[in-house]
Amino acid sequence: MCGIIGFSGNLEAAPVLVAGLEQLEYRGYDSAGIAVQSAKGVKTAKTVGNVSVLKEKIKEETFEGSCGIGHTRWATHGGVSEENAHPHRFGKVTLIHNGIIENYKEIWEEYGAGKTLASQTDTEIAAALFDALYEGKPEETIRKAVKLLEGSYAFCIMFEGVPDTVYCIRKVSPLVAARAKEGSFVASDVTALIAYTQDYFVLPEDTILVLKKEELYLEDLQGRRVEPEMLHVNWDTTAAQKNGYPHYMIKEIHEQPEALHNTIAPRMKAGIPDFEVDKIPDRIFKEINQIKIVACGTAMHAGMVGKVLIEKRVRIPVAVEIASEFRYQNPIIDEKTLVIVISQSGETIDTLASLRLAKSEGACTLGIVNVKGSTIARESDYVLYTHAGPEIAVASTKAYTVQIAALVMLAMRMAYVRGKLDEAGMKKDYELLKSSVEALKLSLTLEETIKELTYALTDKEDLFFIGRGIDYALSCEGSIKLKEISYIHSEAYAAGELKHGTISLITEGVPVIAIATQESVYAKMISNIREVKARGALVILITQEDMEAEEAIYDYHLTIPKLPDEFTPIPTAVILQLIAYYTSVHRGLNVDQPRNLAKSVTVE
Ligand code: M6R
Repeated sequence: MCGIIGFSGNLEAAPVLVAGLEQLEYRGYDSAGIAVQSAKGVKTAKTVGNVSVLKEKIKEETFEGSCGIGHTRWATHGGVSEENAHPHRFGKVTLIHNGIIENYKEIWEEYGAGKTLASQTDTEIAAALFDALYEGKPEETIRKAVKLLEGSYAFCIMFEGVPDTVYCIRKVSPLVAARAKEGSFVASDVTALIAYTQDYFVLPEDTILVLKKEELYLEDLQGRRVEPEMLHVNWDTTAAQKNGYPHYMIKEIHEQPEALHNTIAPRMKAGIPDFEVDKIPDRIFKEINQIKIVACGTAMHAGMVGKVLIEKRVRIPVAVEIASEFRYQNPIIDEKTLVIVISQSGETIDTLASLRLAKSEGACTLGIVNVKGSTIARESDYVLYTHAGPEIAVASTKAYTVQIAALVMLAMRMAYVRGKLDEAGMKKDYELLKSSVEALKLSLTLEETIKELTYALTDKEDLFFIGRGIDYALSCEGSIKLKEISYIHSEAYAAGELKHGTISLITEGVPVIAIATQESVYAKMISNIREVKARGALVILITQEDMEAEEAIYDYHLTIPKLPDEFTPIPTAVILQLIAYYTSVHRGLNVDQPRNLAKSVTVE
């Protein structure tokens, strides 16, 4: 969490930092600040609220200097207040931090004697440590400090007496850097750099990055120069803008046809999925007797869909695990296990820790990741990149459907390699995958209808999603999407499970979004819908277009085109995303930046 940016170059630093923070705001938005270095010293401004509040606060101020650091915060240690906002200054040191310092108490006991803190943050204690160790040599100070610091961190540090220079170091928390004609840049994410260059590198751990006006360079902890491994993004600044849409979320919902095309097309050779371009060998699908899919939130819900797809085609046991649980459960994994980790950001700390655990137990690991060069992508044995482009809205939309597409292709290839599906079967599946993308386009045309019907949800306090089989996985996704951005309490239930308790909560007018796209369990699902309708529920029914449903059992009926059961998730997901989006819009909420949340969860 938290977005950080550093700059040293030939432009005024303050506007560069603020513009960068605007791009990084999705990482945290409870407070923001910048510090700019000049011959007169370091000038800092910070505020509670998001970057627009900071911008307003500093609009009349002059910040001299072309070197500085900026931070947008998601509070972990210390409440949301101006004192706790970054940058923090201690003595000769001004810094920003993303991460958590676990041994802050010990550090303060050792290095804080007789000193006072202005904030309640672990970050200020880290600044005190750097200051205590500083004897005019920044690199040496950093080398000494990282031996003492425990936890995760990405630091950008300015030292008094060292003009126009930002020093950076990281452990776990991400940092990328780039050199452009305007100067040297560092940030949590490439979206903040894209206005200047599409070529960048990920700062390796245990490596000091030095940003100067005319150059940037890397040194390892022994002081030896390190060559960066350059990466290139094939999207530009327009991809990270709203481009006329009122919110990133709705823009990203509409980008799904393209995101799916970009993810599927490079892997399809004559209708057969082929992961040669990803360098994923067939061997890893053959030499396994179980699969674990590990992820968090929406990515985990994509995994639930993947389980159904893989088990049906490959007949191999697949377990879907919540990453934050998996890592503490002493999971049963070995060399015959394929662990698939799914992550849009590639930085989610619990997913990353699960990946490391799986590797240490000898499992083969495959990451399905959207962000190029992210930690999970780099540390997985194999990586299948989704090509959704930058996803800025906190609510994940296009990243989810491309994850499902990736899992469909994996299921097909695994089935082929293990002799469960022949070439003709694969080609048929490919046609169906393409049909599900076409069906998604039709779901997008339901936007106006969904906008109108969601007025019926605006003043509700509780809501239920029900479904069976793959539709239960979609219910989980519909529910998280709705509650995270509309703040309406919602629960997802396997429809057959309702009568084991939950049905007592269904009273007059309680909305139930019934996802009934699965032919195989349609009759059972209709019975469950009757049960809730009989108790007064307001039912929004989602089915395939040819499925019959008597009018008495629903209030609103939305349909997707006819498809075999496993190919319904992609078009259904869009309907659920639009329901969440318009409910939030009607309630007048901040759709892209829901309260208390942040896009990348890099703390445990
Ligand atoms: O970056 P990741 O895919 O690892 O993120 C996982 C979850 O934090 C994420 O999917 C979250 O649940 C979304 N905000 C939900 O819309």
